[in-house]
Amino acid sequence: MTIELDWENLGFNYMNLPLRYIAHYKGGKWNAGELTSDHQLHISESSPALHYGQQGFEGLKAYRTKEGTIQLFRPDQNALRLQKTARRLCMPEVPTEMFIDAVKQVVKANEDFVPPYGTGATLYLRPLLIGVGDIIGVRPAEEYLFTVFAMPVGSYFKGGLAPSSFVISRDYDRAAPLGTGGAKVGGNYAASLQAEVGAKKAGYADAIYLDPTTHTKIEEVGAANFFGITKEGEFITPLSPSILPSITKYSLLYLAEHRLGLKAQETDVLVTDLERFVEAGACGTAAVISPIGRIDDGDRTYIFHSETEVGPTVKRLYEELVGIQFGEVEAPEGWIVKI
Ligand code: PLP
Ligand code: COI
Repeated sequence: MTIELDWENLGFNYMNLPLRYIAHYKGGKWNAGELTSDHQLHISESSPALHYGQQGFEGLKAYRTKEGTIQLFRPDQNALRLQKTARRLCMPEVPTEMFIDAVKQVVKANEDFVPPYGTGATLYLRPLLIGVGDIIGVRPAEEYLFTVFAMPVGSYFKGGLAPSSFVISRDYDRAAPLGTGGAKVGGNYAASLQAEVGAKKAGYADAIYLDPTTHTKIEEVGAANFFGITKEGEFITPLSPSILPSITKYSLLYLAEHRLGLKAQETDVLVTDLERFVEAGACGTAAVISPIGRIDDGDRTYIFHSETEVGPTVKRLYEELVGIQFGEVEAPEGWIVKI
């Protein structure tokens, strides 16, 4: 480790690392792709990604183990989700092998920036697929760029297991009923900015979005999925086509059932039923597991376990998930890819 950074206090911020991967799709195929030190993209001013939002992205992390090795958590799932996003926006798919190879190249090339074990920090990888070229009509691009860049990050919401408060967005939806909510595209995040800015101004960690059809069901917690633990010890997480299918959420569904012995299910989560949860959390790659201490909805307030302390089941899920990611707990088969 040659780099000196304040690893414990990184937050979630962009950093221009020495190398990133870039590949170009033209004439119906991907070129070989290469590492470059140039952190600027050189694209046509008319690129469909810029005007019409024809783009998609991913987020995954590289973890430093106690032994000093580096590993990825379920990168194949990110590759598959980017392929699904690509189909939704009429973009060419990045094959799984090419995706994982690009991620590995970027981690290796920036190895000194993979945070030391024990700091809680990780190397965040951002794969990005964009439609480029000289097109001004609304139609799919003929050329695309696929890039993967990286930066060391700490926590996205409050650090570690400190609970955060959220507010339900009653003025804005992030997704439409048959829209792109289930795909990882920039337009969903653009649509969420006003709610997020308002929530943060009011002192909340982020906004919670409801289903865009009936506005009665919980969908997303900012850029993370929701889960709750009932009095009966069930792990419940919302099911909806306009939610981003979180890889962390599916991992927790599995771990809750197979490692913690909880009944685990994806189903509707009505706002009016929030009282059934004795604990709740937000989960995602950036968010990891952030306990939800409080949710406000107009003049109604819901408290989950405590506003200052993590609950016992959320803590056990966190320890299981993070233990697997950092190589301390045995992973289900195929979840860990060594660099
Ligand atoms: N929901 C949204 C809107 C997100 O941006 C993310 C982040 O990727 C998630 C959920 C969590 O997904 P994952 O666990 O795959 O990172
Ligand atoms: C992730 O968790 O990887 C995300 O994509 C969230 C990000 C938008 C901050």
